[in-house]
Amino acid sequence: MHYKNKPYRYIGVAKHSEELIDYVIYECLYPNDLGTLWIRPKDMFFEVADFQGRTKPRFTQVPFEIKKFSALTPELSQGLLKLCHETLIDFNEESFLAKFKNQKNMTVFCFYYEQTLVGFKAGYELDETKYYSWLGAVSKTHRRLGVAKALMHEQHAWAKSQNYMLMQTKSDNRHKEMMQLNLNEGFNIVGTEQTALSPALKILFEKKL
Ligand SMILES: CC(C)(COP(=O)(O)OP(=O)(O)OC[C@H]1O[C@@H](n2cnc3c(N)ncnc32)[C@H](O)[C@@H]1OP(=O)(O)O)[C@@H](O)C(=O)NCCC(=O)NCCS
Repeated sequence: MHYKNKPYRYIGVAKHSEELIDYVIYECLYPNDLGTLWIRPKDMFFEVADFQGRTKPRFTQVPFEIKKFSALTPELSQGLLKLCHETLIDFNEESFLAKFKNQKNMTVFCFYYEQTLVGFKAGYELDETKYYSWLGAVSKTHRRLGVAKALMHEQHAWAKSQNYMLMQTKSDNRHKEMMQLNLNEGFNIVGTEQTALSPALKILFEKKL
C-alpha cells in the first residue's frame, strides 16, 4: 500500500543491465492511465521518509493470511455466512451449510486481511482424481487486489498435493468476474448445463492440475 493509500502488487527486484542498480518492479492495482507496470529504485521503494509532514514508509506491506479449514467452526460459519449474504445473489444458507455436511474432502481457503475474513474459496471431491471448486467470494471492499486469485492458487496447489489431477468449476452469466478469473487462470470451457432446478445457463470449466 502506497502512503497515499493506493494498492500495488510487489512483483520483485530486477537489476538494471547497464547501471547494475536494483529496481523494484510493481503493478498498479487500480485503473491508471499513466501505466500499470512501474519500476522504482529499490532503496527508494523501501525508504522511510518525510511524506505529508510525517515520517513513514513509502510503501507498507499489507498484513494478510490465508488459512485452510476442513470443517466449519462456529466462528468460521458466522464469517462465511456474513460474506455470502453480502456478495452472492440468491444465497441459500441452508443448502450452503448442508453441503459442508454431505460432501467429501470439503475444504475452505480463507483470506484474512488484518484478521478480518474478506474472501473464501470452498471445494470438495468429485472422485479420486477430480476436485470441484464450488463457491468463492470476496468482500466488495477488497476486490481487484488479487484476493480471489491468491485463494485459487492455494486451492489448486493443495489439490495437486492431494493427487487430484483435474479441477472443475461452474459459473453463470451473473458471475462474469468469476468467469474472467477462471479463463485468465487457465481453465478451459468444456460444456454448458441447464436444469429445471437451476434454469440459468451454466458454463462448465476444467483445468488440469
Ligand atoms: C469474482 C470475485 C471472487 C473476484 O474477486 P477479486 O478478489 O476481486 O479478484 P482478483 O482481484 O483476484 O482478480 C483476479 C482476476 O480475475 C479477473 N477479474 C476479477 N474481477 C474482475 C472484474 N470485475 N472484471 C474483469 N475481470 C475481473 C481479472 O482477470 C483479475 O486479474 P487482474 O486483476 O490481474 O486483471 C469477486 O468479484 C466476487 O466475490 N464476486 C461476487 C461473488 C461471485 O461472483 N462468486 C462466484 C460464484 S461461485
